[in-house]
Amino acid sequence: MKTIQKKVDAQYPDADIIAQAAQILQHGGLVAFPTETVYGLGANGLDEAACKGIYQAKGRPSDNPLILHISHIDELRPIVRDIPKTAQKLMDAFWPGPLTMIFPKADCVPDTVTGGLDTVAVRFPSHPVAMALIHKAGLPIAAPSANTSGKPSPTRAEHVALDLNGKIDMILDGGTAAWGLESTIVDVSVTPPVILRPGAVTKEMMEQVVKQIAIDPTLLQKPTADFRPKAPGMKYTHYAPKADVFLVQGDNFVDVINDLAKKQKAAGKKVGVLATDETKVNYDADVVLSVGSRENLEEVGTNLFHVLRQFDAWDTDVVYAEMFPLSGEGLAIMNRLQKSAGYRVIKSE
Ligand code: TXA
Ligand code: MG
Repeated sequence: MKTIQKKVDAQYPDADIIAQAAQILQHGGLVAFPTETVYGLGANGLDEAACKGIYQAKGRPSDNPLILHISHIDELRPIVRDIPKTAQKLMDAFWPGPLTMIFPKADCVPDTVTGGLDTVAVRFPSHPVAMALIHKAGLPIAAPSANTSGKPSPTRAEHVALDLNGKIDMILDGGTAAWGLESTIVDVSVTPPVILRPGAVTKEMMEQVVKQIAIDPTLLQKPTADFRPKAPGMKYTHYAPKADVFLVQGDNFVDVINDLAKKQKAAGKKVGVLATDETKVNYDADVVLSVGSRENLEEVGTNLFHVLRQFDAWDTDVVYAEMFPLSGEGLAIMNRLQKSAGYRVIKSE
């Protein structure tokens, strides 16, 4: 299959290009498009065969359900059985935006979308290209992140092309995704609501709107058979570059990383360090890449997946990564880093 790639203005996308992409979706095809979090791989969310195509293109396990994307609040009602009060409050505060909510599903939502679950994940993205495309298609659009399963999610069209060229119909290139980490997922089908995946809409922000909000305790720990995350996708290896990634904890992480790097280099390994603007000049390694300033966790979120992919481009064998605080946006960053490292943490003093 030849993949059409078209550049679109991120604010004012060309109507003809959006119409072409919408038509592909209406005919059961696959279109990758930018959102404010990461690029999504879209298909008609009410068409089993089209959704199966998503799993095939990504190499995604079939028990990992998809998020349905809408372009207006009125499009929620037909795909869910109930809109709980807490969901209404969160919607009023954070939609459109980087928040996904889990609702009891309506009968029209196919099992391929929900992985056989009785619930469905719904998101109303705020990116003008995503909104225009969903609106023009006139359908709920199923869209996981547009990467090969297991790889870091794509924050630029070139990441999508690298993973999916030749496997999908079209890529809309709308530049770099602003948030860079996937949406926050909250299960509003239970009381109190539970965060299943941390993202740009933080626990602290949601607590301003609803009284109580819980966090799935498995978010920062290695899942096991009896300790399983509620979002099926969170149990899989994820965000992993080809290199072995280790997180390094403790105040003197710079010295510890330099010691480890020296040993690895002596053993003939190509060593990478995932650093910050504040520390990057202090490392002695083959490839030192900064994810931004520690003072600006939003910037770290935006850059994280691109930097993880860069370590592949540099062919590193092992990567040592700095850690971040667990509050605010830091929770989402640490959740993704822990997964990319397979939960391997080296503790220093
Ligand atoms: O920011 C995002 O959410 C991006 C953009 C494209 O919108 N999409 C995204 O989709 O990250 P994906 O498929 O990569 O991640 C969806 C996550 C998976 O971990 C999946 O298991 C979980 O949502 N999920 C989907 N439906 C669910 C359900 N009914 N119950 C619990 N978890 C669900
Ligand atoms: Mg994904």
